[in-house]
Amino acid sequence: MTTMTSSLVRRSLGAFVIGSVLSATALSAPASASETAGHYQIPRLEWTFGGLSGYFDKQQLRRGFKVYQTVCQTCHNLAHLSYRNLTQPGGPELPKEEVEAYAAQKQVADGFNDAGEVNMRPAKLADLFVGPFKNDKEAAAALNGAVPPDLSLITKARTVEREVEWYAFPFVMLKDVLTQYQEQGADYVHALLNGYMEPPATFNLLPGLSYNRVFPGHQIGMPQPLTDGAVDYDDGTPTTLDQQSKDVTAFLAWAAEPTLADRKKLGAWVLIYLIILAGLLYASKKLIWRNVKH
Ligand code: HEC
Repeated sequence: MTTMTSSLVRRSLGAFVIGSVLSATALSAPASASETAGHYQIPRLEWTFGGLSGYFDKQQLRRGFKVYQTVCQTCHNLAHLSYRNLTQPGGPELPKEEVEAYAAQKQVADGFNDAGEVNMRPAKLADLFVGPFKNDKEAAAALNGAVPPDLSLITKARTVEREVEWYAFPFVMLKDVLTQYQEQGADYVHALLNGYMEPPATFNLLPGLSYNRVFPGHQIGMPQPLTDGAVDYDDGTPTTLDQQSKDVTAFLAWAAEPTLADRKKLGAWVLIYLIILAGLLYASKKLIWRNVKH
């Protein structure tokens, strides 16, 4: 009798959890990726680096680096990246000579000369990326007071705001865990680059700022960096605003975690190992306890 009741309770609990997750899914899913009453829900995109078997697409990283090189590096640095990272497996895997030439465009401090002044030399593969500005003050002076953040970890430092009722929040989180959603930062950066538009008539936009539908507060100090055809691709991929945003975002996601593919591969093996181990443990438990009455 008790076992029956407890299994009933368990079953209805299970149905409740599944039902709640499904209804939270319906609550949180944007009706469409369009603006509804001034609110824009950032869409969830398909990235090659999502899910259990995620990896970076080399061609896409190369295109993304081209966008960074042509547009973003005028204002943003990637201070946590070394030039040699661009040549390593799992990344854009650019030829060494090309990266050496790219690095050599920048100067780095290297000891002191005989007069006691700082010695400068062209950057090498082993050096960290050199940014466009000496410091934040120089950046602010050049950019109307706004300081462009370092982009090395930006896809980890941003996320998608969920505007759901408080009680639906745990279920939205559970859904993210179950569907392995970890690309909120990439979705945000992509949406930000696509998010420039004319401000609504009632919006009081401060001088020097631009209207962006996903930036918190909607006024951003970064002028729209990308438009259709801003960059030339040599692999025939169309250079739409959306495509360039995807490519540069994938490149930034790689910059934030160059070893992502290895981590995911190892994770998959660990899961397989644990499943086999669980089977073995269960079988040995059965074997050891086979003659014991309980
Ligand atoms: C003209 C200079 C300039 C260029 C070019 C530029 N940015 Fe920015 N960016 C800025 C500034 C300034 C900010 C800070 C804006 C603010 O806080 O209002 C910023 C902020 C950002 C942010 C952070 C937004 C947030 O949520 O805080 C991201 C991401 C970003 N830029 C990505 C890019 C990418 C990708 C490119 C190249 C396609 C690019 N930027 C090109 C100046 C620039």
